[in-house]
Amino acid sequence: MRLRTLIGALALAGTALGWGVGGASAADLLSQQCVACHAVSKPEKLSLDRLWERKAPDLYYAGSKFNKPWLVSWLQNPTTIRGGGVMYAKAVKGGADRTVDTIDAAQLPAHPKLSAADAATAADLLMALKVDGLVPAGAFKNEPPSSMASMLFSKLRGCTSCHTAKAGGAPTSGPELYTAGDRLQPDFVHAYINNPQKFDAHVWMPTLGLTDADIQKLTGYVSTLKSEKK
Ligand code: HEC
Ligand code: HEC
Repeated sequence: MRLRTLIGALALAGTALGWGVGGASAADLLSQQCVACHAVSKPEKLSLDRLWERKAPDLYYAGSKFNKPWLVSWLQNPTTIRGGGVMYAKAVKGGADRTVDTIDAAQLPAHPKLSAADAATAADLLMALKVDGLVPAGAFKNEPPSSMASMLFSKLRGCTSCHTAKAGGAPTSGPELYTAGDRLQPDFVHAYINNPQKFDAHVWMPTLGLTDADIQKLTGYVSTLKSEKK
């Protein structure tokens, strides 16, 4: 018992001093520092309660979702992706007249920041996390950009009721997409728009029953959205 406490205290001190990861323990970085909030392996039951109670987005298919350079840079300098919070409903305070929702910023604590070395290690580990068949490779055909695409996004298919394509707007219930071109793999974007419930049966983005032609255009559009400063 006492030995365990000592080891625990040493491990904590090590993490605080920044030498908790690196060397032999680098492989444990995710399980030591990230699982308190994120699922890094597929949960046994993807229930509505779990989705409702989870503290952070799932990372168990991160290797099929993110671009590695974005991970390395974001983990060192995290910015807000879900301006409405992960648990949107918990962070939202109904406006007094019930027409405007405001977001309780206290529900959005700062994300842990990693050193450059730990960010590189974490990105390597995250890129190895995949689920067979979840994101079919090559689904996005990379056709020439369509002039209809931004119209589809903002007007015809209603994406802007839950997502923002430009920095600086009011927070929405879905993740911002104005850095999606840097952050997300196009095949993931295609798979997600096609069927969000394939990722989690309870996620509140609707399956919109779009044609593949529309999904191709929307994916092409979303994949051009990048942060200005580079
Ligand atoms: C205290 C809880 C907490 C811990 C610990 C934590 N995260 Fe997060 N993480 C979050 C939250 C909340 C978000 C969503 C932020 C947002 O959308 O603005 C997030 C978002 C992310 C994202 C983007 C996910 C997406 O789908 O957009 C990545 C990647 C990530 N975290 C990696 C990590 C790694 C790697 C670690 C361990 C070194 C870690 N996180 C530790 C709470 C946490
Ligand atoms: C009713 C609200 C709603 C609508 C409408 C909606 N989405 Fe979503 N979308 C969401 C939510 C919620 C998520 C997942 C949130 C999470 O993982 O935290 C999501 C996730 C996504 C993702 C993955 C982003 C990421 O970082 O994980 C993409 C891409 C996306 N939506 C594109 C679209 C497009 C394109 C449209 C229009 C055709 C659209 N969405 C319409 C709510 C919506």
